[in-house]
Amino acid sequence: MERTGSPKFTTNSGTKRKGDIMKLNTLKTLYINELRDLYNAENQLVKALPKMAKAASSQGLKQAFEKHLEQTESHVERLEQVFQELDEKPKGKTCHAMKGLIEEGSEILHKDGDESVIDAGIIVAAQKVEHYEIASYGSVRTFAQLLGKDRSADLLQTTLEEESETNELLNKLAEDIVNPEALVESELVGASSER
Ligand SMILES: [Fe+2]
Repeated sequence: MERTGSPKFTTNSGTKRKGDIMKLNTLKTLYINELRDLYNAENQLVKALPKMAKAASSQGLKQAFEKHLEQTESHVERLEQVFQELDEKPKGKTCHAMKGLIEEGSEILHKDGDESVIDAGIIVAAQKVEHYEIASYGSVRTFAQLLGKDRSADLLQTTLEEESETNELLNKLAEDIVNPEALVESELVGASSER
């Protein structure tokens, strides 16, 4: 069933985003829409990851971000190949979700405090990003399969696996970095010295 009438999307500033509205009548249109969101999201990440690596104190976490930056660059390239299979020019559409996630994450990067606690905060921010990407890649991979774009489905699946592996690595790093006993102890020391 087609929903008629032009949707009146508004931005925060209240302006109508007429130009952005692409009629979603086919799965292929939705697929392209989501690919554009991801293409922009990955490009935002290429810029954000070096800042996260720089802000991390743990060597393991720094290395994880550096490795994920390399992977993210290949995610961008894979998306370009996926656009190619559609005969579409690779084009991004501002991913407001990624923008927000990165903005929130950067608040943590600029905070003072205990190194391990800040690293743990950076990990939370990074995992939120990974979960967003996992949801998106899972969907576009399925759309590619449904549309018979087998090569694209494989490419998207490969990226999906790398995002999941990164998320797992972040889980492990969080356990290694955040030693609860050490943190509780330093909190107690801090508390007693304040008295
Ligand atoms: Fe990615």
